[in-house]
Amino acid sequence: MAIKIVGISTSPRHANSEIMVKAALEAAKGINAEVITEFVSLAGKNIKGCTNCRACIKTGYCIIKDDWEECFKPLRDPVPNGVIIGAPVYFFNLNSQTRAFLERTTSLLKGNFFSEAKQFPPDWTKTAAAGMAVGFDRNGGQEHAISSLDHWFLTNNFVVVGGTHVGYIGAPGWLMEESNKDSVEKDVKVGMKSAQIIGEKVARTALMLQLGNEALKNM
Ligand SMILES: Cc1cc2nc3c(=O)[nH]c(=O)nc-3n(C[C@H](O)[C@H](O)[C@H](O)COP(=O)(O)O)c2cc1C
Repeated sequence: MAIKIVGISTSPRHANSEIMVKAALEAAKGINAEVITEFVSLAGKNIKGCTNCRACIKTGYCIIKDDWEECFKPLRDPVPNGVIIGAPVYFFNLNSQTRAFLERTTSLLKGNFFSEAKQFPPDWTKTAAAGMAVGFDRNGGQEHAISSLDHWFLTNNFVVVGGTHVGYIGAPGWLMEESNKDSVEKDVKVGMKSAQIIGEKVARTALMLQLGNEALKNM
């Protein structure tokens, strides 16, 4: 039984968030199961925020023409078994690009709110998920940023995992008083270790959900 885990770096750069996401995906592959991974980077992508134009209620899809559809596709077509999002911390929360990426999901949910709309959320009820965040400071807002990711996951029915060896809600990375694109690699004991734990947790939970789902079919 193979499971697929998608890792998304929402930084506008190929940098620390990407390093953490790739580390988590590598760890996910280390569990005792066949794990297929896909990495997505939002670096260089043009993703606008939702404008509340409400066109999607009629069309069934978002009419904004940019890179959102292409970047979001790995989360819905097909729905993966696990998702890990790694975001940079800007002003103690998610950066605007992460926010825009998540906001646009509203175009997929309108059947929940409007009787004339036909689109309901993809079935993420059996998809494990976790958030990671990296900031310049040790306590620079990683907790807040990861909470925001977790809220999006929970709102959309993902099965959220968290909790690491440092008792944190997800994986927090910091730049160890440097500001290089790879400084987080020096945060071995907390950031990189947490990324590894989160990767394994998402993969194990994804596997359990898959196995449980198969078992339920035979009951
Ligand atoms: C606009 C802006 C705001 C930032 N705000 C914070 C912050 O509030 N807390 C923090 O710890 N780091 C902050 N940083 C630092 C980034 O989190 C840090 O550079 C991080 O490495 C970015 O992730 P990346 O390397 O994957 O791009 C900020 C950086 C920018 C550009």
